[in-house]
Amino acid sequence: MTPRHLLTGAELTAAELSALLDRALELKRAPLASQALAGQSVALIFQKPSTRTRISFEVGVHELGGHPLILRSDEMQLSRGEALRDTALVLSRHVAAVGLRTGPDAILEELASHSTVPVINMLSAGHHPCQALADLLTLREAHASLEGLRLAYVGDGNNVARSLAVLGTLAGMHVAIASPAGYSLEGEVQLAPGATGELSFETDPHEAVRGAAALYTDVWVSMGDEPSAEQRRAALADYRLDDALLDVAAPGAFAMHDLPAHPGEEITAEVLYGERQRIWDQAENRRHAQKALLELLVAPA
Ligand code: CP
Ligand code: NVA
Repeated sequence: MTPRHLLTGAELTAAELSALLDRALELKRAPLASQALAGQSVALIFQKPSTRTRISFEVGVHELGGHPLILRSDEMQLSRGEALRDTALVLSRHVAAVGLRTGPDAILEELASHSTVPVINMLSAGHHPCQALADLLTLREAHASLEGLRLAYVGDGNNVARSLAVLGTLAGMHVAIASPAGYSLEGEVQLAPGATGELSFETDPHEAVRGAAALYTDVWVSMGDEPSAEQRRAALADYRLDDALLDVAAPGAFAMHDLPAHPGEEITAEVLYGERQRIWDQAENRRHAQKALLELLVAPA
């Protein structure tokens, strides 16, 4: 049987996404209700640093009755040139699923093409679908329906923005992305076949934010972007998520951030630690959303 992977989020149907969020809400209320991974192991391979992804996957797999196998790629034979194909074939003999955090999306695609168990993207240069699943869960907790809801993303057109675009439109939302010239994703997002929402691009943050139920931002310097840090900080200086920008959004709008945050850069400390945010809920929701995802991919009902 061909395994199901989650590399971009576009592999899901709208109905599956909605059911996954419902299930994540159930698992949040009863974290030990499912033992879907009893007796099974899940390999989690990190080629880049992580705090939230590692913690939420490791604890989540444990809560599902499984064993999380944390693998640093610099300690694997991969670092000495062993083929990704061989690594995939060996992993597939031992574990129920493989999570990979890496740079190029092509690495994930190659791993998935040789794996006989599901492969999950735990962040790549192009996508961060597990983050977007947790973000949609956070929005669902605040709004009964995501259909037609406006989410404004302000800042660098990066992996997090792309995944919000893919999964937000699959949930029927309007995702409005404001980025400066040179940092926009316009023309670079492949939506899911079943997407019914809308995706729009702006350069003026206010245009994107007007009427939005939530305002989202992410770091200006992603992992791997360090050589262009200074240019990025200069180009993105007017794209900070602060209280004044929240005032432009819909009444009751809140701030979102996938973390790690750099207070004073892409978000103010007032917003990050204030009352008008659901950022720490997002961090918790990683675990609940990923557990529902593991159930879907590894142990479908
Ligand atoms: N948001 C997120 O993926 O955080 P980590 O890089 O700490 O895993
Ligand atoms: N865009 C960021 C997300 C970190 C979770 C990065 O890729 O570094």
